[in-house]
Amino acid sequence: MKMQQRIALVTGANKGIGFEVARQLARRNFRVFIGARDSDAGVAAVQKLNKEGEKEEYGEITFLKIDVSKPDSIRCAAEEFSRSTDRLDVLVNNAGILLDDDKDVLMVAPETFETTLRTNTLGALLVSQAFVPFLKKSGAPRIVNVSSGGGQLAGGADGWAPAYCISKTALNGITSQLAAALPKFAVNSVCPGWVRTDMGGPNATRSVGEGATGIVWLAADAPQNETGKFWRDRKVIPW
Ligand SMILES: NC(=O)c1ccc[n+]([C@@H]2O[C@H](COP(=O)([O-])OP(=O)(O)OC[C@H]3O[C@@H](n4cnc5c(N)ncnc54)[C@H](OP(=O)(O)O)[C@@H]3O)[C@@H](O)[C@H]2O)c1
Repeated sequence: MKMQQRIALVTGANKGIGFEVARQLARRNFRVFIGARDSDAGVAAVQKLNKEGEKEEYGEITFLKIDVSKPDSIRCAAEEFSRSTDRLDVLVNNAGILLDDDKDVLMVAPETFETTLRTNTLGALLVSQAFVPFLKKSGAPRIVNVSSGGGQLAGGADGWAPAYCISKTALNGITSQLAAALPKFAVNSVCPGWVRTDMGGPNATRSVGEGATGIVWLAADAPQNETGKFWRDRKVIPW
């Protein structure tokens, strides 16, 4: 029996790791929704993948405007999504920020802390809430939260980017809570490693391709009964 084409939504997919995850899923014949807060950047990303797809036969690629820090934008995105399809198989909560003034836990400004957690943590929860009804229509629903080793509590903090690291610790808490609330889903956190993107910088050790691989594995290939865990390179790592 031919498998139904799977459908994925990747947030923050106009560039960096999110774009590469979208590309790898499209290459695997997923129908991919490119979530982006900036329409021009989102449409440009879709056009780029469609051009590549002319040669390689990618799955259908669609732009979806979504700013994960804004509840209204998330609501509108879910409405817009429902006009195309009523089912989602994979949600990749990838959108994230690392602010320049996030340097010292004793000095961090409330705005820096709030903005970081609004995007990296609450954003992932609200997007999950809005898209769970579509995921419930899938035979094998998955939520992949793109976290960071910086959020690990095991081993202790090293002082780098405290608001960002705390936002990822809390994102891991959301993974654990969603896994408990959604027993038929696979809900997991994943660290992509240190990746050469605008966020990771040019000295990072991994290419976007290498960074995306573990995310795509959780999105497409990991056993469906693996849930409520934190992963890097297809291996479970401590919270
Ligand atoms: N790079 C690394 O070494 C590394 C390591 C560990 C974890 N991560 C995680 O991997 C994910 C992707 O990071 P990256 O390295 O690819 O960073 P990036 O190149 O800076 O890309 C971040 C993406 O998130 C989007 N975004 C930010 N705020 C958003 C919002 N409110 N609504 C919607 N989209 C938003 C950005 O959109 P705009 O273009 O509009 O800004 C962009 O598409 C993040 O969650 C990050 O924390 C990265």
